[in-house]
Amino acid sequence: MLQLEEIHTYYGDSHILQGVSLEVGEGETVTLLGRNGVGKTTTIKSIIGFTPPRAGRILLRGEEITRQPSHYIAQQGVAIVPQGRAIFPTLSVRENITLAARNASKGGWTLERVLGAFPPLANRLRHKGGQLSGGEQQMLAIARALMTNPELLLLDEPSEGLAPLIVAEIKRIIAALREQGLSILLVEQNLTLALELADRVYVMNKGRIVFEGTPDSLRANQEVMQQYLGV
Ligand SMILES: Nc1ncnc2c1ncn2[C@@H]1O[C@H](COP(=O)(O)OP(=O)(O)O)[C@@H](O)[C@H]1O
Ligand SMILES: [Mg+2]
Repeated sequence: MLQLEEIHTYYGDSHILQGVSLEVGEGETVTLLGRNGVGKTTTIKSIIGFTPPRAGRILLRGEEITRQPSHYIAQQGVAIVPQGRAIFPTLSVRENITLAARNASKGGWTLERVLGAFPPLANRLRHKGGQLSGGEQQMLAIARALMTNPELLLLDEPSEGLAPLIVAEIKRIIAALREQGLSILLVEQNLTLALELADRVYVMNKGRIVFEGTPDSLRANQEVMQQYLGV
């Protein structure tokens, strides 16, 4: 579904991603782990075209999308749930969800279906986005992304700042999307969540991939766990 081949991404002169290669297979859930500031969000932004890489290639279903505009990449079936959620605080829940509606002809996600998947949102359709709790805002951000009927979902730290009970709810939602065959790239700092949801895991440090493997092989790798994840 998605391939990153040796991408290099900069902010001005700062060379942040230093040859990142990773892959998300069709229907696969892949997690990207690493401490704060190692380049996880920059990787997501590189894929969606917010910070296009200066070198390397990004392929979606085998087609090169490197340095294509974000709207084109989104049209090709890539949706993002950004870090910090970025919902519209002054728009209602219904408006936040429906403004993203797209590709309706492809079937799949409709307002009715997302409300069925996120019951707390169904009770708050008229509330402003800014009035929701953190967990509800996260659900709203995921609901909005699903309304584009994506084939590849990029989730940037969906559990950040949420209470354990709400994290469990978010986990259940992501697990259900995985079951339905969506391809998912999940950036996380919550190791338990990342390992339980993933088919495969990458660990990043200082703009490079330092580990790639199954969740079990990461659990068994004390050195990587200690050195790069501080566990
Ligand atoms: N807009 C920006 N301008 C300059 N440097 C940035 C910008 N955003 C992030 N950085 C730097 O890039 C590095 C990687 O950041 P980021 O990808 O956000 O890391 P992570 O998501 O893993 O915490 C950090 O050193 C950060 O300070
Ligand atoms: Mg980040």
